Amino acid sequence: MKFRILNLPQTREILPIFLFAVFSGLLLPGVALAQTLPQIDTHTDSGGSFTNYQPNGPTNEATSPFFQALGSNGRTCQTCHEPGDAFGLSLTDINNIYTATNGTDPLFAAVDGADCIDQPNSHTMLLKHGLIRIMLPISPTTYNGSVPNFTVKVTRDPTKCELSNANVQAACQAEFGPGYQCISLYRRPLPATNVNFLGNLMWDGREPNPITFGLTAALEQQASDAVTEHEQAASPPTSAQLSAIASFEEGLYTTQTSDNNAGSLDGNGATESPQELASQPFSYGLNSTNRPGFNENVFTFFSAWSSLTGTDPVSEAEESIARGETDFNTIVFNDGATKVTCSNCHNDPNVGNNSNNPAKIIHYGTDFAFDPTLDTASYMPTFSIQCIPPQPFSGVSGTSTVATTTDPSRILITGVCGDEGGVKIPSLHGLLARAPYFRNGSAATLATVITFYNTHFNIGLTSQQQTDLQNFLGAL
Ligand code: HEC
Ligand code: HEC
Repeated sequence: MKFRILNLPQTREILPIFLFAVFSGLLLPGVALAQTLPQIDTHTDSGGSFTNYQPNGPTNEATSPFFQALGSNGRTCQTCHEPGDAFGLSLTDINNIYTATNGTDPLFAAVDGADCIDQPNSHTMLLKHGLIRIMLPISPTTYNGSVPNFTVKVTRDPTKCELSNANVQAACQAEFGPGYQCISLYRRPLPATNVNFLGNLMWDGREPNPITFGLTAALEQQASDAVTEHEQAASPPTSAQLSAIASFEEGLYTTQTSDNNAGSLDGNGATESPQELASQPFSYGLNSTNRPGFNENVFTFFSAWSSLTGTDPVSEAEESIARGETDFNTIVFNDGATKVTCSNCHNDPNVGNNSNNPAKIIHYGTDFAFDPTLDTASYMPTFSIQCIPPQPFSGVSGTSTVATTTDPSRILITGVCGDEGGVKIPSLHGLLARAPYFRNGSAATLATVITFYNTHFNIGLTSQQQTDLQNFLGAL
């Protein structure tokens, strides 16, 4: 049984295939219908609809390894990167799938779809916050083999899945080698679409860097790890399978295409569509903040709507989205040392990830256990990190030499003190289809994302600006 199509696509080509199968006598009982991901694949979401677009034409899901179970637990890439959720996975669908299958869908496999490997029936992290468990070593070396110049202490272990869990440490040694110690982190799936703009892979950038290794090679290595880890395959996929997965991902674009209040997002002078996204020029360093010539007007899809003056509901909705776009590009807030706009970090033109070369990985507070808006301390594990020798941490008030975090992230890859909490700057399309937000699922809605920015960075947004930014993000 296939339960993944809960969000029924409007344009799936099931009927013609079904009729063809019936009339040509091909349809046998028990034989699954071949499914095609159409070239233009539109789905509804909470704010209107979004579209996945494949410039190279439709994909036959029966033969594409992205949609095939390549390991031992029945999962496919689609299990966590669902076309109907803009190639991420929404909390709503996670709960729908749980209810429809009574928790037996492969998504809930104990390896990382349960709170811990030895608690196959506990899924609080996944069902409440949309989080998948990620196991990473803290000693004797980090994920990429560096010797860490810091120590990690577990200060809160709500899932009983950290250093004191012998089953986790046994799994850690099976994966990384004798003597290794691992901690469990909990993270949201990143969208497996719009990948052509990415300068780093995974929240902590731990997969090979596309800028150095080339995008295709980096995606292939990422897919190979996904198959052996999430899909629990005994051996990696073939190079033909890896190449098919990477080229499928490289041929995918997704954006919101209509808004319940503003109507079509590429009408009346606005230009947002996945086709338009596919034709955006891109190169590493394109709109780098490290170079002179940085253009803060990162999003321009809705600029034509900024001159509208109508007072009918559709015009007002369009004007709000356009104001949100301008606010995103221009409102200045004080990020500690430097003045920044949303578009400083999210600076890839019309995409919203970071286009610097190298792409930025930064520490900015979504992992702080004490942030009052995100309230991560109520459900996440916490860790305290101390450098060897002890030194004060940047971004932490006072001169404390201990940093407390719910996800040490980048430091667990590089092993270098100063990288604690570092996280990549994600792209911003198809957001409404894949709530909740941030790597720890701590913002249930876009309104919470904006409240976080407003309070954490003390921006002083008016309530009109907050509404406009929310409408703009929902239209991406
Ligand atoms: C059990 C759920 C799950 C499955 C199955 C899964 N992924 Fe993921 N995927 C994730 C999570 C969680 C992340 C983010 C992890 C992190 O950053 O530590 C991710 C990240 C990614 C990224 C990085 C995107 C970016 O912006 O950096 C790509 C690409 C990706 N997955 C592709 C795949 C492919 C291809 C497959 C199948 C071979 C697959 N995934 C299977 C959960 C899953
Ligand atoms: C200092 C750099 C920086 C600035 C400035 C910034 N962001 Fe972000 N943004 C990030 C990073 C890093 C993340 C990922 C954080 C995480 O998941 O822990 C993120 C995540 C997001 C997300 C969630 C995406 C997802 O898939 O979960 C949204 C939405 C967003 N930012 C919107 C904005 C808006 C709106 C502004 C301006 C008010 C803004 N950002 C300013 C760096 C920045």
